[in-house]
Amino acid sequence: MKLVKTVKELNESMQLLRTRGTVGFVPTMGALHKGHISLVENATCGNNVVVVSIFVNPTQFNNIDDLERYPRNLDADLNMLADSGCDLVFAPSVAEMYPVPDNRKFRFGTIETVMEGKYRPGHFNGVAQIVSKLFDTIKPDKAYFGLKDFQQLTIIKSMVKQLNLPVEIVPCSIIREKNGLAMSSRNRLLNNEETENAAIISNTLFMAKELVGKKSVKELVEWVTEKINSNPFLNVEYFEIVDDTNLQHIEHWEEDNTKVGCIAVYCGKVRLIDNIVLN
Ligand code: PAF
Repeated sequence: MKLVKTVKELNESMQLLRTRGTVGFVPTMGALHKGHISLVENATCGNNVVVVSIFVNPTQFNNIDDLERYPRNLDADLNMLADSGCDLVFAPSVAEMYPVPDNRKFRFGTIETVMEGKYRPGHFNGVAQIVSKLFDTIKPDKAYFGLKDFQQLTIIKSMVKQLNLPVEIVPCSIIREKNGLAMSSRNRLLNNEETENAAIISNTLFMAKELVGKKSVKELVEWVTEKINSNPFLNVEYFEIVDDTNLQHIEHWEEDNTKVGCIAVYCGKVRLIDNIVLN
């Protein structure tokens, strides 16, 4: 596995690697965990070459504290990737990725004004900026994204369509801790007590799935929100039940679409997201 830190080195390495066949790409912000490794494993199965990027992208953070507190440990990340089947790691600096400010404004319509887009203004524009830059240089055949960031996946698919990019977006399952908590780099910011209590989030989502049809959509939204908020460690920012393609609210269970319950919860100062397909 090779590590490169500049776009020039990346281009040189990619020229050689592309001669081996298809390229699978896993973009990350580091602080890698088993969820990331499962993305890399998926990429390894479907391609001849696997590239992983590690870059905490400042343009997708709308809160400076959140950016500063985001966990970073390149050596630990490289150790985790060592036996994963990854061929090339690209870990650039901010100056390398943004030699000049990126002023591009992407437009995603209503899929970006709800949920994460509503509570983290500018977040998805930053995600689109960095992912489009990475796609442009790496030119992967397939790129792998976790379903935990459900809305991000929808945004990326839309961006690929808008820009006519020749890359297949491959969604990958949410990987969970034994207690059900969705794996996330942010979990390492939780103390032991918070980690235990954060498991209430996924466990409530699993229970909610069993209540579909027994409670109305509105009742279920209230039930989930109240149950999680009754835990003193947790504070729900939103819980919404949405159509999986346009991300707009569902009013009735009878609607003929796939329904996803998406949630953002503060556990202390740490913001966690999760989701569950309800039908
Ligand atoms: O999901 C993430 O870790 C990031 O949003 C991504 C896709 C690597 C872009 O910075």
